[in-house]
Amino acid sequence: MLAVKDLYVEYSGIRAVNGVTFSMDEGQFITLIGANGAGKSSIVKAITGLVKPKQGEIIFNDTNIEGRDSSVIIRQGISYCPEGRRIFATMTVEENLKIGAYLRKDKKKINDDLDKVYHYFPILKEKRNLPGGSLSGGQQQMLAVGRSLMSDPKLLLIDELTLGLAPIIIQDLAKILIELNQNGLAIILIEQNANVALKTANYGYVLETGNIILEDDTTELTDNDFIQKAYLGI
Ligand SMILES: Nc1ncnc2c1ncn2[C@@H]1O[C@H](COP(=O)(O)OP(=O)(O)OP(=O)(O)O)[C@@H](O)[C@H]1O
Ligand SMILES: [Mg+2]
Repeated sequence: MLAVKDLYVEYSGIRAVNGVTFSMDEGQFITLIGANGAGKSSIVKAITGLVKPKQGEIIFNDTNIEGRDSSVIIRQGISYCPEGRRIFATMTVEENLKIGAYLRKDKKKINDDLDKVYHYFPILKEKRNLPGGSLSGGQQQMLAVGRSLMSDPKLLLIDELTLGLAPIIIQDLAKILIELNQNGLAIILIEQNANVALKTANYGYVLETGNIILEDDTTELTDNDFIQKAYLGI
């Protein structure tokens, strides 16, 4: 479904991603874990067209999308839930969700997808007429995920799902992502919180200073001595 080959990202000559290669199949749930500044966001931004890679190929369903505009990439079926949520505080919850469908025209399908988002996140339905800014942090993250579902993606990229959220909310969100994945959505979860990431995704890549240093099933990574010491605090 997605193949990233030998990807380099630089900012004014300073290297952030240093020849990263990975791929995933349809319906997979993978995670990229790594410390602050490891290059996680730069990789997803390159996939979604928000930064232009210095070098590399990004193949999505047989099309090279490297360097294409974000709107083209979204239409191909990739959606991005950004770090920091970026919801619109003064717009209502429902208006925020509908923004996620801005490239689509079929009103009936958009409404079906709105119902689907409300099915996964009933609290958003309850609060649909309230301003986004009135939601709690966890609810805002649900709104951000819901908004990215409104483009009807085949692949969802989530950058820092859990940052600043209470454990109970994190558990809820993780459960919903697993459910979305079981219903066929491929997911890439970017996380500093390796504990959550390795419990939620099925396959993981460990990123350090722009390089993948380790990859494996998340169950194997969880048992790995180095990962336990460096990332899980065990
Ligand atoms: N717009 C930018 N201009 C200059 N340098 C940048 C920019 N964005 C990121 N960087 C640098 O690139 C490197 C990788 O950053 P990136 O945001 O991809 O890491 P990250 O793994 O997502 O980190 P975090 O966990 O803090 O979100 C860092 O050294 C960062 O300072
Ligand atoms: Mg980041």
